Amino acid sequence: MKILTLWFLAVACTVLCVKEDPSVLQPEPTPEARSRFAALDDVRLLANGLLQLGQSLREFVQKTKGQINDIVQKLNIFDRSFYQLSVMASEIKEEEEELKKTTVVLKANNEEIMDLSFQISSKMDNILQEKSQLQNKVEGLEEKLSSLSQGLVTSDQVAEINSLRDVIHSQEQSIMELLKAVREQSDQLNHQRTQIKMLEEKVTSTHQQETIEKVPEMFNAEAPTLTTYLTSHSTNSTEMMNLPSDCSELFNRGERVTGVYVIRPNRSQPFMAFCDMRATVIQRRRDGSVNFDQNWDKYVDGFGDFKEFWLGLRKIHSLAAQGNSVLHIQLEDWKQSRRFIEYRFYLDGPESNYTIHLTHLSGDLPDPMSNHTGMMFSTKDKDNDNHQDDNCAQNYTGGWWFNACGETNLNGRYFHMKPKGRSERRRGIQWRQGRKAAYSLRFTQISVQPLASGSAASSTSASSEAGLFV
Ligand SMILES: *[C@@H]1O[C@H](CO)[C@@H](O)[C@H](O)[C@H]1NC(C)=O
Ligand SMILES: *[C@@H]1O[C@H](CO)[C@@H](O)[C@H](O)[C@H]1NC(C)=O
Ligand SMILES: *[C@@H]1O[C@H](CO)[C@@H](O)[C@H](O)[C@H]1NC(C)=O
Ligand SMILES: *[C@@H]1O[C@H](CO)[C@@H](O)[C@H](O)[C@H]1NC(C)=O
Ligand SMILES: *[C@@H]1O[C@H](CO)[C@@H](O)[C@H](O)[C@H]1NC(C)=O
Repeated sequence: MKILTLWFLAVACTVLCVKEDPSVLQPEPTPEARSRFAALDDVRLLANGLLQLGQSLREFVQKTKGQINDIVQKLNIFDRSFYQLSVMASEIKEEEEELKKTTVVLKANNEEIMDLSFQISSKMDNILQEKSQLQNKVEGLEEKLSSLSQGLVTSDQVAEINSLRDVIHSQEQSIMELLKAVREQSDQLNHQRTQIKMLEEKVTSTHQQETIEKVPEMFNAEAPTLTTYLTSHSTNSTEMMNLPSDCSELFNRGERVTGVYVIRPNRSQPFMAFCDMRATVIQRRRDGSVNFDQNWDKYVDGFGDFKEFWLGLRKIHSLAAQGNSVLHIQLEDWKQSRRFIEYRFYLDGPESNYTIHLTHLSGDLPDPMSNHTGMMFSTKDKDNDNHQDDNCAQNYTGGWWFNACGETNLNGRYFHMKPKGRSERRRGIQWRQGRKAAYSLRFTQISVQPLASGSAASSTSASSEAGLFV
């Protein structure tokens, strides 16, 4: 500091001394020429100058002091800034450290990822390799196959393979056919089942006596023909062979539902018949809904709708041709009194105009019919009635085994009300004996069944009431 101050003084002198009073330092031309007073003035002047110098020095020092303070201040500020900077630098350093660490971690992660991707790619390589191997194998197989087909297989083997293929094909076809047949049969079974169910419902919902009057509603207007059966069933010979010969056979097979079935008596054409348990019904009257005043051809073929019908002489003949037949006749008057009569029965064929053969067996009805045995069938257009002058069928309407007309005609007119005139009454449904007055019945059913199966399948003998024999 002392050196610095002296240095400052010297500098200050050189600057200030010259500037303040340049003449003071210039010497006089000669010292002898100067007076004592003059020398004293010089000292005063010098002291004055020194004073001034001191003052300006002090000012300068103060000024400098301020400047130094200023500098120190500035230095302090700088110091502080430097400190702050160094703090910041260290912070940055720390962050850098952390960054470094993070980078290391990231680097590791990256390495891991790289490792994984490498593994994946190597696996993919493996897969691709395997794929190409497989492809090679397939190609090899294809080659082998093509080489096999190009003559390595003998013609015998080819033929065997082809025949095997044919066998498989035919088996497939037969399986298909079998399935078809099974389906058809099940359809048929279902159809029959619904029919049976329908009939069973009817049977259970009505009185036993009335069941024989309940028939399916599906047979309308037309005579019982085979058309419906043949169009809805694909019958073949085996099925034809298995058809029941009559209702009695159906009954023996376990059928217990009254209704319409397909039968085939004595190897004839199959036809539909109304079965009342064992009995094959050949004639029915119940409400007059069917006109029985028909010609020969109609009586041969049959007519009606199974509620009221005539089965037809041809079919009745084929039924009777089986032998041991019993003709069962059920009649009911308007007082609900029901009775029956049975005959041993045979019916000749068309060559004999369906001549009837009857032998009385049993029943609670009188027997006017035995006198008709050996009679041919007659209609209004075919008169075989043993009557000289008249045509019985024309007089009494309907076809029957008239014998000089006789006392029976179950194919007469159906009367809901008792007719007024005697001759009109005589045209009704008749079953009389002796001199009994004409009486038209409410209900009739004629059926055929084998003798062996016993008598009177479904008929119950009702108590004798006045109605029928009045
Ligand atoms: C007839 O049907 C029977 C089965 O009901 C069957 O075994 C037979 O092969 C069939 N015949 C014809 C010619 O379709
Ligand atoms: C079938 O009818 C014919 C006559 O049409 C007869 O000769 C034959 O004996 C009958 N068959 C049977 C099994 O009754
Ligand atoms: C059958 O009836 C026709 C017509 O009534 C008659 O001409 C014919 O002689 C009859 N047949 C027999 C065998 O009596
Ligand atoms: C039986 O029929 C004949 C005609 O063939 C007749 O003369 C006779 O009186 C009848 N007998 C009875 C009991 O009806
Ligand atoms: C048939 O009818 C005619 C006229 O209606 C009658 O003269 C004749 O006596 C009748 N014959 C018989 C057998 O009833």
